[in-house]
Amino acid sequence: MTKSASFSGILLRWYDNNKRDLPWRETADPYAIWLSEIILQQTRVDQGMAYYLRFIDTYPSVKDFANASEDAILKLWQGLGYYSRARNMHHTAQTIARHYRGMFPADYESLLNLKGVGDYTAAAIASIAFNLPYAAVDGNVYRVLSRINGIDTPIDSGQGKKQFAILANELLDASHAGNFNQALMEFGATLCTPKNPGCESCPFNKLCFAYKNNKIDSYPVKKGKVKIRKRYFNYLVIDHGSYTYLSKRTANDIWKNLYEFPLTESSEKSDLQQTLAESQAIFPLQTQLLLEKESDWQKQVLSHQHIFYRFIYLKIVGKIKIPASLLKVNKKDIFNFAVPKPIEKELSKCNWF
Ligand code: ADE
Repeated sequence: MTKSASFSGILLRWYDNNKRDLPWRETADPYAIWLSEIILQQTRVDQGMAYYLRFIDTYPSVKDFANASEDAILKLWQGLGYYSRARNMHHTAQTIARHYRGMFPADYESLLNLKGVGDYTAAAIASIAFNLPYAAVDGNVYRVLSRINGIDTPIDSGQGKKQFAILANELLDASHAGNFNQALMEFGATLCTPKNPGCESCPFNKLCFAYKNNKIDSYPVKKGKVKIRKRYFNYLVIDHGSYTYLSKRTANDIWKNLYEFPLTESSEKSDLQQTLAESQAIFPLQTQLLLEKESDWQKQVLSHQHIFYRFIYLKIVGKIKIPASLLKVNKKDIFNFAVPKPIEKELSKCNWF
């Protein structure tokens, strides 16, 4: 099915009757739309809503966002993952505040030049805020279009990306570009879902290639699996009276600029004695560390890495010399720091904090 007028007509009618009431749908403010779209690249609407409301409440305008500290933005973003998105947003907010007098540019090319704004986000902002005719192609759109049209080209190939972008732009109703894009994503997110889609009530079921051929689970087609790197982290939770120690991750790596307990990393699970020896190496020799307890190994799954981690609680005996790289933190202040998921989980369990 390729006739765009009937496709968009059916889709827009479905959207009118079925769309969720979402706060960013009540505004054409490009700042609000940018914020919601970047958050929704990280999570689903139900979880993203709370983040969106917190951001809008704390930073009502892009200038407020630009004036915030990076630490504060990372703290609000905590739990969403992929922290470079938050750092890029800060950069972009500052660009808009300084070079565009606080107003988002109203053309696709300028939007695309903003840090962290790719084809998808530029098209979403251009269409939803400025009603410009650009199709926004996200994972939902790949799924919907591949099922209805029976497209076998892998979506993780250059050819697939091009083919789906061309098709989405052909189908786009240019006079309702913002609603068309939101309708297609909403349709994918709520009806044409990855598992158990609602085909019986789908307005396209008479035309849908995958439904008619009983091949719903075969679309979209993907080429290859990503290679997963395994890493092993021993977090050292230092118990020093009312204090503990944190370190900021500054390298170009996962969780950049977030805070964590000092850690030793290995490429395999290390035994406790070895880890204690490595822990001692982080602290100058005068510092004596006494093992209090250790947690079980746990696992955090990221898109390209699996992090196996455990917590080793160490008490300071006698004098401590603190390496310059560590931050002395009052235990009661620890929730002010943006931390990666494993630490967030541990803090919620640990009665010290
Ligand atoms: N997913 C990402 N952006 C969306 C939007 N604007 N509407 C529905 N689902 C979305």
